[in-house]
Amino acid sequence: MDQQTPRRTAVVTGASSGIGAATARALAAAGYHVFCAARRRDRIEALVAEIGGTPVACDVTSESSVAALAELVGDRLDLLVNNAGGAFGAAPVAQADSDDWRRMYEVNVIGLMQVTRALVPALVASGAGAILNVGSTAGRIAYEGGAGYTAAKHGTQVVTETLRLELWDQPVRVMEIAPGMVKTDEFALVRFEGDQDKADAVYAGVAEPLTAEDIADAITWMATRPPHVNVDELVIRPRAQAAQHKVHRV
Ligand SMILES: NC(=O)c1ccc[n+]([C@@H]2O[C@H](COP(=O)([O-])OP(=O)(O)OC[C@H]3O[C@@H](n4cnc5c(N)ncnc54)[C@H](OP(=O)(O)O)[C@@H]3O)[C@@H](O)[C@H]2O)c1
Repeated sequence: MDQQTPRRTAVVTGASSGIGAATARALAAAGYHVFCAARRRDRIEALVAEIGGTPVACDVTSESSVAALAELVGDRLDLLVNNAGGAFGAAPVAQADSDDWRRMYEVNVIGLMQVTRALVPALVASGAGAILNVGSTAGRIAYEGGAGYTAAKHGTQVVTETLRLELWDQPVRVMEIAPGMVKTDEFALVRFEGDQDKADAVYAGVAEPLTAEDIADAITWMATRPPHVNVDELVIRPRAQAAQHKVHRV
């Protein structure tokens, strides 16, 4: 890299585990200085000790916390990966828990909006910025017991599409990756409030679910395309998952 070219920078939210941590690792390996943002400071500090970058304790649902993140990032940013998110509960609509639904909308939609809103000026200033939102196949379909999460992830999808329309004349790509089944350590455990048996049942018999590294690899590919190449949306599933309800289990 010559002296005139500043090192590329990226913000990854939800970098303390799963897809976010793997993405931070992959982007660091691709040459980015990564701002690793999440609430669990010990996790992101350990990650930064391993890959370099900057740890940022940040709750994406808090405006002041997001403002502090933007302050730390400064005037110029190349890539924002809005990955922080998750599912809470799996109750049918008729038995739904309002607080679970509010939390899902807060993190998957409002949090994503708040981080984006705070960082768009720095992404524009880079002259070739990119925003990559981590949606889900849950943002494409419906499944029983999933409405709180599917509604929120449909929100992620439509916010991404809207933002792409709104930034059409700006030097910022707007993309979404929509993974199917990814076996991460915490996603299902968080959804089922620490119930390991229920979490294990999600992946039971699936020989090769996607891994966090598979998604990180795809995100890095999308991010590192030339600035005029916008991968609008990339749906990615394990071969064993032909559709949400059609999973090959052995
Ligand atoms: N696993 C799957 O099958 C799958 C499939 C499709 C899409 N996704 C999506 O992929 C993303 C990552 O999922 P994952 O499987 O890697 O799950 P995960 O390991 O549970 O990761 C979720 C991450 O989000 C962070 N987070 C949660 N609330 C936050 C908040 N308020 N502020 C900042 N960070 C917050 C968590 O960190 P802290 O707790 O430290 O804040 C954690 O790092 C999510 O958006 C999820 O919806 C997952």
